[in-house]
Amino acid sequence: MKVLVIGSGGREHALAWKAAQDESVEHVFVAPGNAGTSMEDKVSNIPLDINKFESIKNFCKNKNIELVIIGPEKPLVDGLSDYLEENGIKSFGPSKYASQLEGSKTFSKNFFIKHGIPTAQYASFSNFYDAVSHLKKIEYPTVVKADGLASGKGVIICENRSDAEKALKSMFKEKAFGRAGRRVVIEDFLEGEEASFIAVVSKDKVLPLVTSQDHKPVGEGDVGLNTGGMGAYSPAPIVSEELNKKIMDEVMYPTINGLIKEGHPYLGFLYAGLMIKDNEIKVLEFNCRFGDPETQPIMIRLKSSLVELCLSAINDNLDAHNIDWSNKHSCGVVIASDGYPEAYESNKEVLFDSNDDPEAKLFHAGTKLQDDKVVTSGGRVFCATALGTDLKEAQEKAYNLVKKVDFDGAFYRKDIGFKGIK
Ligand code: AMP
Ligand code: GLY
Repeated sequence: MKVLVIGSGGREHALAWKAAQDESVEHVFVAPGNAGTSMEDKVSNIPLDINKFESIKNFCKNKNIELVIIGPEKPLVDGLSDYLEENGIKSFGPSKYASQLEGSKTFSKNFFIKHGIPTAQYASFSNFYDAVSHLKKIEYPTVVKADGLASGKGVIICENRSDAEKALKSMFKEKAFGRAGRRVVIEDFLEGEEASFIAVVSKDKVLPLVTSQDHKPVGEGDVGLNTGGMGAYSPAPIVSEELNKKIMDEVMYPTINGLIKEGHPYLGFLYAGLMIKDNEIKVLEFNCRFGDPETQPIMIRLKSSLVELCLSAINDNLDAHNIDWSNKHSCGVVIASDGYPEAYESNKEVLFDSNDDPEAKLFHAGTKLQDDKVVTSGGRVFCATALGTDLKEAQEKAYNLVKKVDFDGAFYRKDIGFKGIK
């Protein structure tokens, strides 16, 4: 069978790498992919524009693609999954309606309230002056969020009213997040420890993946600007078995049952970003896709087939599906371009030392091939990922792999996994 993976990041490299290991898979195409996916066995890149749904459909029909795995949020929010389904092509990813859980903070907050899912108090505004006048009525710190997609960067924690007013100005007036900031959510600041919970969902069935935790801020000790994620590890000790059950009962089931009630059952990866304090859970956000970089340390622990997992969900057989995981721990360290998450330079040639550790894998993200050389093409460039008997060993192996990669302006956090070790 032939599989198409949509996207070009580290997440998509890990998904394509894993899908290609399946004996039943003849070939994996990645649209558009990166230098890493183009160098994998049984994998090749296809230069399709992932915003042009018709060309994706035509490619699938011509090549007889039997499964499309959609990695990033943008095509999901734009309705790629619905479009492929209407054209008789099996795809793994939620509908346009369900993807609003990530695509609009106003939609998701309204949805949480409607279906009794615990979350911070909030108000939503499409007008600067109403939003500013709301600032008089609330306590600080507060959180100002662009409503639409902003690559994990549209959330501003404001210590006081003046900061909050600046945040509103940047969104409404200066259009710092473009169309994503035409509507804004202002919500209560929550204290606690964050955890991510990622599951495969098919209608009324939820199969949680192994736990994981990312490090969003750019600086060591979790300080500085938020990024898409600077590294991740699995398992995450914060999600105990008891908490796991609570998350399923209070968050996952109410969400998927709420979507069924609204006539739009969910299919795909569902990612809940949670704040936990004294065993109380509140949902910060939903993502309608797998996490990046969480996918990389999770895929390296997956022993059974990714493709069969996706097909079980599509064919409504998730109940009967067993996932086989490695008991080992994993850690993935992102290597980024100097300046990220703000402006950075690209087209830097990458030099590699050979990696002889079979339990370590370098996933590419922002890379491309130019005259047979690998050059940088994005903010997050690689995710060096490794398995170990414990998190400390996984971390050591991941950092050994980091040292085998070099390019002008490369930087990485030196403490990925610290939250799981302390
Ligand atoms: P989000 O994209 O909504 O998950 O927000 C990105 C990050 O901002 C989260 O991972 C949290 O670290 C932080 N954050 C978002 N909402 C809140 C909140 N209500 N209280 C405290 N921190 C928040
Ligand atoms: N690592 C966080 C995300 O994928 O949104």
